[in-house]
Amino acid sequence: MLKVQNLTKLFEKNRAVSGATFDVARGELICLLGPSGCGKSTLLRMIAGLALPDAGRIDIDGKDVTEAQANRRPTAMVFQSHALWNHMTVAQNVAFGLRVQGLPKPEIAEKVAAALTLVGLDGFARRRPAELSGGQAQRVALARCLVVEPKVLLMDEPFSALDAHLRANLREELKALQRRLRLTTIFVTHDQEEAMELADRIVVMHAGRIEQIGRPGDLYLEPQTLTVARFIGQMNEATVTLKAGRADWLGQPVALPAPDGPVTLLCRPEDLQRDRAGIDVRVTRVIDLGPMIRVTVATDEGAALTWVCGREGQPQTGAPLTLRPSRLLAYRDGQRLGTAAPVANRIMAERV
Ligand SMILES: Nc1ncnc2c1ncn2[C@@H]1O[C@H](COP(=O)(O)OP(=O)(O)O)[C@@H](O)[C@H]1O
Ligand SMILES: [Mg+2]
Repeated sequence: MLKVQNLTKLFEKNRAVSGATFDVARGELICLLGPSGCGKSTLLRMIAGLALPDAGRIDIDGKDVTEAQANRRPTAMVFQSHALWNHMTVAQNVAFGLRVQGLPKPEIAEKVAAALTLVGLDGFARRRPAELSGGQAQRVALARCLVVEPKVLLMDEPFSALDAHLRANLREELKALQRRLRLTTIFVTHDQEEAMELADRIVVMHAGRIEQIGRPGDLYLEPQTLTVARFIGQMNEATVTLKAGRADWLGQPVALPAPDGPVTLLCRPEDLQRDRAGIDVRVTRVIDLGPMIRVTVATDEGAALTWVCGREGQPQTGAPLTLRPSRLLAYRDGQRLGTAAPVANRIMAERV
């Protein structure tokens, strides 16, 4: 439905977006994910026609729209702040796009009512934006987009200003609606949990560039760059020297078939296991997260690690522990090098 090729936007000499290339299939929900300032909004605005690219091309449903004006594109956008017109009722706000199209009044009324039903706002037609909660206002903003039946729905951090509980509810509602209507959607967020929950695929951005595109689980398990690995979920990180396919991660021997040199080895907290042999540490902090316990520990040399465990068997602060990594991701020059295999114990490593 949407094809973005080599899209680039410069502000002065600053590359806000650099060579962005990706596709969105019909009915797919893509999240643009990355830290603040990485170019997500700029990329979305170029797709919407609110900013003109310096290079690249945008096709929607097989048509080149790179130079087309915003109102000539089959897109509609929901912004972080709802941007409703305060002097109009909810119904008038939702009707706006249809009035611009010059549709007959009865048809507009019908479509507006249907859109308000879709977003769960039956009976709100006569209210003013000032009489709505933040969540209701965002639902109206969504209805205002849905009513024009865009080919691509664009959403720029639409729930960021809302509290966590409401945000989670709206996310679920949006996902259900998006599936039901098979809406082709690009959803911008800096919140990785939001992206993991909503997206069919996530486009991870950093400093104007696309770092990786993948399904949520694939990004989590197989981050292809150090930036993605650090951005998605938690990681324990140490840079070590690889020699003859062997390295030492906090005293743990690991095997990695790669040329000699420095490697950054990352281990997820849940990929550390309590064991008899491994890294000897002392518990420095126990954080109760409810469904699980996050434990920070320190080695004798002072390196800090994060580990997670269940409620039962949670250790006390100050207690000694032995942790063994079961899976380590290796990176060199910011790029994935492979998966380092932890060697079972020291004796075996010495034999090798
Ligand atoms: N209108 C503008 N003029 C100059 N610089 C801009 C403008 N809009 C965005 N930028 C810059 O482009 C970069 C990307 O911004 P933006 O796309 O808003 O990032 P994000 O949405 O990921 O937070 C930032 O460095 C930002 O300061
Ligand atoms: Mg933004």
